[in-house]
Amino acid sequence: MLEQGTVLLVDDEVMVRKATEQWLRLSGYEVISCSDAQGALAHLNPGFAGILVTDVRMPGMDGMALMHEALARVPGIPVVLVTGHGDIDMATGAMRDGAYDFIEKPFAPERLEATVQRACDKRRLMLENDRLQHDLASQSGIDARLIGLSPAIVRLKQEILLLASIDTNVIIYGETGTGKELVAQCLHEFSNRRSRNFVPVNCGAIPESLIESELFGHEAGAFTGALKKRIGKFEYADGGTFFFDEIESMPPHLQIKLLRTLQEGVIERLGGNSPIGVNLRLVAAAKADLRVEEGFREDLYYRLNQSQLHIPALRDRADDIPLLFEYYVERCAVQHGREPRRITDLERRTLQRYSWPGNVRELKNIALRFALDHRGQLADLLFPAVTPMQAVRPVQTGAVPETGSQPLAVQVGAFEAEIIRQSLGRHGGSIKAVMDELDLPRRTLNQKMMRYGINRSDFVQDAQEG
Ligand SMILES: Nc1ncnc2c1ncn2[C@@H]1O[C@H](COP(=O)(O)OP(=O)(O)OP(=O)(O)O)[C@@H](O)[C@H]1O
Ligand SMILES: [Mg+2]
Repeated sequence: MLEQGTVLLVDDEVMVRKATEQWLRLSGYEVISCSDAQGALAHLNPGFAGILVTDVRMPGMDGMALMHEALARVPGIPVVLVTGHGDIDMATGAMRDGAYDFIEKPFAPERLEATVQRACDKRRLMLENDRLQHDLASQSGIDARLIGLSPAIVRLKQEILLLASIDTNVIIYGETGTGKELVAQCLHEFSNRRSRNFVPVNCGAIPESLIESELFGHEAGAFTGALKKRIGKFEYADGGTFFFDEIESMPPHLQIKLLRTLQEGVIERLGGNSPIGVNLRLVAAAKADLRVEEGFREDLYYRLNQSQLHIPALRDRADDIPLLFEYYVERCAVQHGREPRRITDLERRTLQRYSWPGNVRELKNIALRFALDHRGQLADLLFPAVTPMQAVRPVQTGAVPETGSQPLAVQVGAFEAEIIRQSLGRHGGSIKAVMDELDLPRRTLNQKMMRYGINRSDFVQDAQEG
């Protein structure tokens, strides 16, 4: 028989309870029956989708107290009180306090069933309404986070909301700058884990010697220099979402440790020997298919690959290009208190014809330059006539040799280092801003900075992290 709803039934009298329970069951309800209020409380969590039917006079916590507690724990839950004969005053008082209805003992089972049915209908409507409200809020929330109306992005947003509600690991595929990290953040923000931490880690950006202690943490004295105990990022992400960026660059020994963490749900701090339970949802970003990525473990791949999201390249969703461009131009104008610069139809077509190898990151960058420079031509921003080499020539003092007296690679390297230094200087050491300006993935930027011995901290102007 179809279930009509769930009834949490509380009565200390065995005979009455059993008879009521049986009647309701035969009428198609799922019944959870308890002999006292304490037993019922165990079922009353905010996710409880049923109604409460309780006797009023019971030893220990009585039905009225149980009703108040139920309404506090499950707001709006319909409560039907079963009262003794002649308790009308008390019953009407209870109605004022939020009871759904009351029934006097002894009652005809049909009378109880009719009340239970109405209460269950009400509960169903309430839950449906809650769900719609929540869906609406999520929908407008994600529309504000992920700009785009092309069919591919609309579908992506639906998939994100769906996956956010299921607790599976996810691999996000997409070219550089397509929004993998943004999508990972959305997966977190629209999930039940949103009140806990979202912890992004880029395997390629942390020196190999430090990765393990970064992720797993360490006990005091675990190795030279480990003076104090340190919580690792996995522990920090407990109950939340862990985002592994550029997972393809994870060193092999770490892949094994990660696999174990995923399989067993525990980590061990370096130098520690007691396992610590961690509850993680793993989201990984990759630029290429991990199945064919050399050096990537197959068993780890299958652990991660519970679901996938594919973000299309910007050139494959041309409709979104002007939309995103105008969005960033407007945002920039608002930030600077100006009128937003309008784009012409010709400019719109130019934007759509360009291939956007750096995807949304590149577009954002160009849009901001366009917005701030009222005379600049869009085409000049997209297809600069001057090479970058010429563009920075005035500041190449000393760093770049004037003559070709050195091997080309050395000259190019010196030039590259100088550009990175200048960009870091302009942005007060903000790595993210340099990535955006020079359109470089974090890992590449990090490798170059290590190669040229450039320290971010030399460019930070205040204590803020970039
Ligand atoms: N659909 C979108 N709507 C609004 N902003 C977006 C969208 N997609 C990407 N962005 C923005 O573009 C920039 C790059 O996105 P993100 O860092 O998430 O890309 P990524 O795929 O992780 O890049 P990489 O592979 O280089 O790490 C960010 O500033 C992000 O906010
Ligand atoms: Mg990224």
